[in-house]
Amino acid sequence: MKFVNSYKEKLKKYNDEHKLKYYIDTMGCQMNENDSLKYAGIFESMGFEKGDENNSNVYLFNTCCVRENAENTLFGRLGMLKKRKINNEEVYIAIVGCMTQQEHILEKIKKSYRFVDIVLGTSCMSIFPEKLYKAIIEGERKVEYIDMSNSLEEEVPIKYEDKYKASVSIIYGCNNFCSYCIVPYVRGRERSRKPEDIISDIKKLAKEGYKEIMLLGQNVNSYGNDFKEKYTFPMLLQDIEKIDGIEIIRFMSPHPKDFKDDLIEVIKNSSKIARQIHLPLQSGNTEILKKMNRKYTKEEYISLALKLKEIPDVSLSTDIIVGFPNETEQQFEDTLDVVKKVEFDQIYMFIYSKRNGTVAAKMEDEITYEQKVDRLERLKKLYEETLPKLNARMVGKTYKLIVEGKSKNNDKLYTGRTSQNKVVIFEADDSYIGKVVNVKIDSEHLWYLKGTIEK
Ligand code: SAH
Ligand code: SF4
Ligand code: F3S
Repeated sequence: MKFVNSYKEKLKKYNDEHKLKYYIDTMGCQMNENDSLKYAGIFESMGFEKGDENNSNVYLFNTCCVRENAENTLFGRLGMLKKRKINNEEVYIAIVGCMTQQEHILEKIKKSYRFVDIVLGTSCMSIFPEKLYKAIIEGERKVEYIDMSNSLEEEVPIKYEDKYKASVSIIYGCNNFCSYCIVPYVRGRERSRKPEDIISDIKKLAKEGYKEIMLLGQNVNSYGNDFKEKYTFPMLLQDIEKIDGIEIIRFMSPHPKDFKDDLIEVIKNSSKIARQIHLPLQSGNTEILKKMNRKYTKEEYISLALKLKEIPDVSLSTDIIVGFPNETEQQFEDTLDVVKKVEFDQIYMFIYSKRNGTVAAKMEDEITYEQKVDRLERLKKLYEETLPKLNARMVGKTYKLIVEGKSKNNDKLYTGRTSQNKVVIFEADDSYIGKVVNVKIDSEHLWYLKGTIEK
């Protein structure tokens, strides 16, 4: 579905006089962040200016519900805005994204947060301008359930904040139904964007000077499964590789069960695909993996990870959940065992969070919260013990990177990330920003490396 905004001129005209400011509060994953860039693009195309947390008129909350705590955060923030509404300030509130796909959230907003103006689910950008127009011009305030989670919206304006790296969604939704996960229920089924749409977006970005592209999807390597003609994720990568000006291609997240040899070959033979692969493990125990509906075993995961590590200079990152319902100590130790064997450069660790409506929510769970926290701490400790050794392997070597800008803490120092996604700090000046340079690594400092530009 092509994005058409019939309210653009009307709201632009209103904004010529009223100069309304917008503020977007984004929770959740990179896909939500990408959606927020599109919402920003929509706002700016209608003459809204970017404001801040305190001085804006339209507040858009792009919500996440993958874990428990986000709900309280949202309702806390809404409470703060209520005062400004009561004081008759020109303030509008819109809530979009994953959380609003859930019935109980809609009920709660209808009952206790009636000052909210717009509520929309996922993939609802096409109707956002109309709702905004009605709220601002006609004073309509409506909480209605519109399910567009199976639609695919093209040609939505997008406003990137970075100058050199950009994210591009290639597939929406998820068909995997991992037993703990709410995403398939709130994001709908898998829909792959047409290759020509993706390629044309990236070509445009390359022309504008973007050098690094992050391809996004809940399961990027099932890209194309919904096409009639064969066109796969590895084929897409090969086509993106041909685009002049793009230096680094990243993607997340691939699912281990769909990581086949053709993809490994394409990565091996590519000079642009990042030497960093995110390979979500979730658990290192085969029985738990089965209960999670992940469709691979401990051994299959290790063998895939080690195969990927054979590619020179590849680093791996992963997601791990501790404390899945009734996970035993031994089962948790299997996770530690995989972490020891694979040696991840980055681990995103989560305590299992019960999500109503998922299969795991009905499973019995007798592990205490304290036990779960303890497991998380032990996992963290093991990870931090491995990291210096992995970083040390990079010392003395030279890596290509894009100079992203000044380091936050020191005016003379600049930063960039290697293809392995390691942050490097080095001396440079403003003329280097946006350029691709070679940096020799001098020392490692756990969360970053120090280096020197080679001239
Ligand atoms: N599609 C991606 C990411 C999904 S959400 C993937 O499959 O990797 C990001 C991460 O949140 C997941 O990888 C998982 O580790 C974590 N997560 C999802 N549901 C969770 C839950 N109920 N409790 C705790 N962590 C969860
Ligand atoms: Fe959730 Fe699994 Fe889909 Fe990832 S692959 S979004 S964890 S159901
Ligand atoms: Fe959260 Fe939705 Fe992403 S639930 S993790 S924002 S897909």
